[in-house]
Amino acid sequence: MKMRLDRFLSEMGIGTRSQLKRMCRAGRVTVNGMVQTSPEFHVDPETDRITVDGRTAVYDRYQYYMMNKPAGVVTATRDPKQKTVMDLMKQVHRKDLFPVGRLDIDTEGLLLLTNDGALANRLLSPKHHAEKVYRAIVRGRMTVEMAEKFAEGVDIGDETLTRPAKLDIVRMFPDRNDAGEEGWRSEILLTITEGRYHQVKRMFLAVGSEVLFLRRERMGGLSLDRRLAPGEVRRLTEEEIRTLIP
Ligand code: URA
Repeated sequence: MKMRLDRFLSEMGIGTRSQLKRMCRAGRVTVNGMVQTSPEFHVDPETDRITVDGRTAVYDRYQYYMMNKPAGVVTATRDPKQKTVMDLMKQVHRKDLFPVGRLDIDTEGLLLLTNDGALANRLLSPKHHAEKVYRAIVRGRMTVEMAEKFAEGVDIGDETLTRPAKLDIVRMFPDRNDAGEEGWRSEILLTITEGRYHQVKRMFLAVGSEVLFLRRERMGGLSLDRRLAPGEVRRLTEEEIRTLIP
């Protein structure tokens, strides 16, 4: 598919559209060996050889990013009122990226963004059963019976029970609730293989608890990079991409 030269170079992260216009006009860009001074010139990224200052601009058809999504932003490409995860991708000039799946506004953690629709479909397909691991702080003390219920499947008000899920209890600690009363909290890891609407929150409600904090830490073979602060984004490494594409 043909596209404007300046758009191609901006999607490859070589500069902003206005910087690239200046670079073209200054004769620093070639297409198939010929200097091309017009930023509007149309190129075929798959077949044309494009250089900037003598260096070939390699076209990556698909791009993959990991975000540590902060609480308070919506997982959407646009929203009339709220800040979106795409607003945190401002330094990435690729226009066709989208988030794979959805985290609630108050959920943090691993979010994959790509323009690879086939990969997104495979990861989200209910048939694929990609594992997702969440860390949560929940109200109350977790019991063996709760873990057994999650392993069997719980009724969260849908037509079918949830698929078997694994509950690991990390720690339990006393805490005060908003009214100042003593209570208990539990930190847990929950592994699920589906992605139903508000699934983790609804699963804890179904066993009489409540999620107070939620962070996704793994999707399939891809783990959240602990060096990424909430709101930060980075490209996936080749190895990480391979864990997503079996
Ligand atoms: N389950 C939830 O309840 N919320 C999320 O954001 C993700 C999974």
